[in-house]
Amino acid sequence: MTAAPGREQLIEVAYLAATALFILSLKWLGSPATARRGVRCGELGMLLAVGGTLLHHGIVDYKWIAAALALGVIIGTPLGRVQMTAVPQRTALSHAFGALCVTLVGTAEFYLRAPDVPRFMMAVLALEVILGSLTFTGSLMAAGKLQEILPQRPITYRGQNVVNLALLAVALGAAAYLVHRPGQTQLFPAVVGIPLLFGVLMIIPIGGADMPTVISLLNSYAGLAAAAMGFVLDSKLLIIAGALDGASGFILSVNMSKAMNRSFSNVLFGAFGQEQPAGASAQPERSGRSATPEEAATILAAANRVVIVPGYGMAVAQAQHKVRELYDALTKRGVEVKFGIHPVAGRMPGHMNVLLAEADIPYDKLLDMDEINGDLPQTDVALVIGANDVTNPAARNDASSPIYGMPILDVDRARTVMVIKRSMAAGFAGIANPLYYLDKTLMLFGDARSFVGAIVRELAGAQG
Ligand code: TAP
Repeated sequence: MTAAPGREQLIEVAYLAATALFILSLKWLGSPATARRGVRCGELGMLLAVGGTLLHHGIVDYKWIAAALALGVIIGTPLGRVQMTAVPQRTALSHAFGALCVTLVGTAEFYLRAPDVPRFMMAVLALEVILGSLTFTGSLMAAGKLQEILPQRPITYRGQNVVNLALLAVALGAAAYLVHRPGQTQLFPAVVGIPLLFGVLMIIPIGGADMPTVISLLNSYAGLAAAAMGFVLDSKLLIIAGALDGASGFILSVNMSKAMNRSFSNVLFGAFGQEQPAGASAQPERSGRSATPEEAATILAAANRVVIVPGYGMAVAQAQHKVRELYDALTKRGVEVKFGIHPVAGRMPGHMNVLLAEADIPYDKLLDMDEINGDLPQTDVALVIGANDVTNPAARNDASSPIYGMPILDVDRARTVMVIKRSMAAGFAGIANPLYYLDKTLMLFGDARSFVGAIVRELAGAQG
């Protein structure tokens, strides 16, 4: 008869399963079709990881753990219910909490072990608290900017990058000295405090438009800090989960930078949006040629191929279900309808995919920028719904534009362009969009949900 598995084995099995589930989760999160499964898989992995940890022999009293759990539920429940447009700042707050936790654990471990901290242990401990501290304040700043509690505009001054890098060098120097002489405990507050200040100073010169890239970079730092904590606490699970988090955050940042045609150094040190050409962010005085829902419906009904380009305005208006009705009405008439999805449309990665999936638009109709751009010259109507910057031809044609070089959806190459938005106002980058003044462009002024709803009614009326 074999003996029942001991507690240690149970913990190992739970950790192994959690690791496998985290990897599967990342794989499935890569496509809208499997993303829900990916989320559930990640949740199950986390449940097993936490459950396994709670079985540890080392835990002598569950009182404080229960209190922390209750506090987490009180803070986490409302955070889980924010509007989808506020998810980027909510994500930044989650990173801030994770990073604070890592920093506090690192600090406690240092004072528990000092002065006898082996060199390797001291090095990973220092890395843990440096990354944790700067991620904590950096993420709070990023959340504040996105929530518009703090000014979104980049704040810059002469010698800013030198000051910031010098501060980081002092913190790294103090950490290196501690690795050499861990008994010098009076240096430890500098290893925590300076990165806290660095996190604030690092974010103030970065404009709101770059915040998503910065948040995924901070995500990557938080993951690396957690991996370092795994070495300190001798937890393989933390090392693996932290490394996965660090790597995926980094890959996401690289992809987002590519989508905006920016380099990391440009995002971090370029103060994007600070110097705009005179008048670039001013509200244009001219108004584009406009059309009514009835006219828009007539044009759409006569088209063979339509490409719908959703953007942030569709999310604000919560127009995705009306867009689904429009898709149904047009496909019923034999019109071929596809969706062009820009990687940074909206305010978070995958924002448009999530909304359109919620409205049950078939996944195979959602095409990435690179896939759809080739189709646009043969498209009868490009219908832009609440998108602006991601369709701005200045990014392709005007070398003086602040967004020059950012890849865009080439809607201006379609035969007719129709743009649903409420006014001629600029998008997130704060710059005018020449698309609206082309002869082939019709402005459909109104809230996205009401306007799309009105087109659907017109199509139904014409049908009936
Ligand atoms: P934006 O350039 O921000 O333009 C959105 C447009 O939607 C606005 O011009 C606005 O014009 C319109 N709008 C707002 N509410 C509306 C409503 N209720 N009904 C109809 N229209 C409405 O959006 P985009 O084209 O999606 O580009 C995204 C921008 O955000 C890029 O600059 C990107 O770099 C940046 N960004 C992206 C992310 C990620 S990761 N996706 C995160 C943060 C920032 P009116 O006011 O005239 O209606």
